[in-house]
Order: sequence, then structure tokens, then C-alpha cells
Amino acid sequence: MTEKTPSKVNMEKIVSLCRRRGFIFPSSEIYGGLSSCWDYGPLGVELKRNIKEAWWRAVVQERDDIVGLDTSILMHPQTWEASGHLQGFSDPLAECKNCHQRWRTDDLEGSSCPACGGELTEPRMFNLMFKTFMGPIEDMASIVYLRPETAQGIFVNFANVLDTTRKKLPLGIAQIGKSFRNEITTGNFIFRSREFEQMEIEYFVKPGTDEEWFNYWLEERLNWYLRLGIRKENLRLRQHMKHELAHYARGCYDIDYLFPMGWAELEGIANRGDFDLTQHAKHSGKSLSYFDEDAREQLVPCVIEPSAGVDRTFLAVLCDAYDEELDNEEIRVLLHLHPELAPIKVAVLPLSRKENLAQVAREVYADLRQCWAVSYDDAQSIGRRYRRQDEIGTPLCVTVDFESLEDRAVTVRERDTMNQIRVPTETLRTTLAAKLAGEALFTLPPGGKIWKEERKQNPG
Ligand code: GAP
Repeated sequence: MTEKTPSKVNMEKIVSLCRRRGFIFPSSEIYGGLSSCWDYGPLGVELKRNIKEAWWRAVVQERDDIVGLDTSILMHPQTWEASGHLQGFSDPLAECKNCHQRWRTDDLEGSSCPACGGELTEPRMFNLMFKTFMGPIEDMASIVYLRPETAQGIFVNFANVLDTTRKKLPLGIAQIGKSFRNEITTGNFIFRSREFEQMEIEYFVKPGTDEEWFNYWLEERLNWYLRLGIRKENLRLRQHMKHELAHYARGCYDIDYLFPMGWAELEGIANRGDFDLTQHAKHSGKSLSYFDEDAREQLVPCVIEPSAGVDRTFLAVLCDAYDEELDNEEIRVLLHLHPELAPIKVAVLPLSRKENLAQVAREVYADLRQCWAVSYDDAQSIGRRYRRQDEIGTPLCVTVDFESLEDRAVTVRERDTMNQIRVPTETLRTTLAAKLAGEALFTLPPGGKIWKEERKQNPG
């Protein structure tokens, strides 16, 4: 018999878990898939929503200085002229003269084709914006673009938000939404795709205070990832070199995550200065300045932009949570997801399908789902059901057994430690709420008692 040994996370394991458990499917899979587009399945959509909600809560709900917005994907084409995307949002593209594969040359190590070693054509600049036509006539005048960033929807609404909210600087506007880029090289699963979601803040400040706010947001955003449970050693800040800076940026840092393929950008935090408001004022002919009541003068605010990717956060959260351990000579795969992010918070598991037991279990289930995303599973052995929940990161399982019929109590089992406690059904909601809020599992609720420990072996 070959001994099973737990091993470290890699991209194949994440892709396989996502496919197997319904987190992520290739887009239009029955037709062979569509390159670099992905569909989020029943568990994936929950995890993704939880990430977006955690972000929205931290940057909008819990703050006085930031408001939300949801702007359209299609925008007036002049937007992209003003923002510089028509001229500047391009990557250098070269084609192999032998195998005709296309490559982004700023990503290449050498000067020949990485696939076959053939000679490459001279690079030409390739604009990453997707074009389409608005209305029934497909001519130059009807070209519109799918937005490559959500940011521009915020800039063009700056005056609307200022007028309707009567807010003072510093003022942030936050938006979550889809963006599209016709990326030349994609890959690493959902890390770089052609359709993705961004969570962006444009934080408008008085000129001269921008450096201070820039530093503030670097710390604030790094802390957000830590609060989601991502390990500190897997996060770093990386300053952009001058030649890397986007056309609009005075300065930029990336928050990088140590993905299985190496360090890569999770979020960019840029000081955009007054570039965007000045450009849009010039191109639209509308004033986008702000009247500073203290100085009694008009000014054009500077902008600090923390711009995060939903899909990359999703991938980082999964990679960070993934774990394997040896348990009773079997490999236990588990996701140590933060309870706030876990797609399912609690699973209700009746020990048997017998009607008297199932009835109590269904009552418990009906009660708990008023508070949380709860699943009900009565198929196969209890051990297998625990493993299924571990693998999708469910923090707590509630088992209803024959003793429950007598004592109106259930067993609560915790994902990470596999410890179990017995809890009366009447205090179950409060116990689970406390556990999900981070209270140690063995703080017993009134009337609770320590039940049993699942046998657990340490690897090695
Ligand atoms: N408004 C600024 C902006 O869009 P960016 O660095 O190009 O800046 C911000 O993008 C974030 O959007 C990135 O840090 C990344 O998380 C996400 N992102 C960008 N391109 C992506 C792609 N092709 N696939 C998935 N996420 C992407």
C-alpha cells in the first residue's frame, strides 16, 4: 500500500477543486469553452458575492467619506479619448514567423518565440479595448467600447455625486463591476482573463495632501486582505518602477500575492494626480473643479485609486485557504476559509434518513437558514459528509442524531479542529453566531457539554 502524504497547494489542485465542487466552470463548456472566460458555479457565486460584500462593507458601509456608484459598461466613446485609453492602453504584440503564435513582447525573456524558437515579427502596439457597435449601423460613427476599467464611470460622474451628496473633500466613490480587456496572453486560471470584475475606489483629495492619502490607502488596503484571513507572509507591497507606470499615474504600488505560479499583482494603488478630471473637463467642456470653502478657491482634486480584482482576490483566498492533512490514513482536503467568506456557513447533517430524525433535522435547517447560507446533506456516511463540507470550507456542521430526539440537543463540529460540542437546539442559533464571529469553539454555551473529539493524526 502506498502511503498517502499531504502536499502543498498548486494551480492544478485549485482548478480541479473548483471544477469538481462547482466553484468555477469554463465558459460555454459544452461548445469546448471560450478562451479565458469563466463561469462561477453555485458555490463560486456565493464566495464571490461574499468577497464583494466584505469589500463594500469595509469601504462604503463603514465609512462616512465614501459613497457607491454603479455605472454602465458602455460609455460615450469620447471618454476613452479623454482618458488616454485609445492612444495608450496597448501592449506590444509580435507574431512568430514560423508557428504564427502571438506574444506580448514585454513579457518575453528572450527575443525568439517561446513555443518553437522561431523568429518574431517587429512588435506593434495592440489596443486592449474590445470594440462593438451601438445601433443597427456598423460604421465608424457607431463604435463603442466595452470599458477596460470601472474607474472612468466614476470620473465622469464626479460632479453629479458632488452636487447630489453635498459631500466635502476628501471624498471617495466606490464601484464594483465588470471590465473587459482583449489580453494578448492570458492564463493561470482566473488570474488573467478577458472578462473580469474590479472593485475600485477613486478617492478625491486636495492637491498637496495626495502623498499622505496615498500612504494611508496602502496600509488600509493591505489590512483588508489580512482581515479576510490571508496570511501576511503571502502578501507584499511592490513599488512600480518609472517605466512601469500607467500613462495617468504619478506613483503606483501593487499589493502582490504569492500565487502558486509566484508573486503577482492582486491590487494596484495609484496616485492619478488630477489627470482624469482635467482631461474630462477639457474634452467635455464641463467644469469638474471643486470649491474649497476654507481657501475660498476652485481647485481640481487629486485622486488616489485603490483598484482590486474580484477574481484575483477569489483565487488568492482559495490558494491561501487550501490545505491537506493526514487523517486516519486518508488525505483530508479542507479550505480554511474565513467564516465571512465561506459559501456555506453551516451544514445540517441528520445521522439517518429515518423520518422521526429527519423531521427534527429539517426543523433545525429551516430555523438556521433564516440567518445564514445553510446546506442540508443526508447522503452517505457521516464521515464522508464531513469531508465534503471541509473541502468547500463550511466552518460548522450540525449533526442530528437519535439522542437529539430525547435531549433536544445537537452536535456542532468545527471544520479546522474537528472538535465537537453538544448544544441544546434552543441555544443553537446564538452558539453558531458566536462561533461564526470567531469565538473559540470550546467556550461552551449555557447547557452545553464537551462531546467527543474526532480521531486526528498529525501528518508525519
Ligand atoms: N483603474 C486602474 C486599473 O484598472 P489595473 O492595475 O490595470 O488598474 C486593477 O487593474 C486590478 O484589476 C488588478 O490589480 C487586477 O486585480 C484586476 N485585473 C486587471 N486586469 C485583469 C485581467 N485581465 N484579469 C483579471 N483581473 C484583472
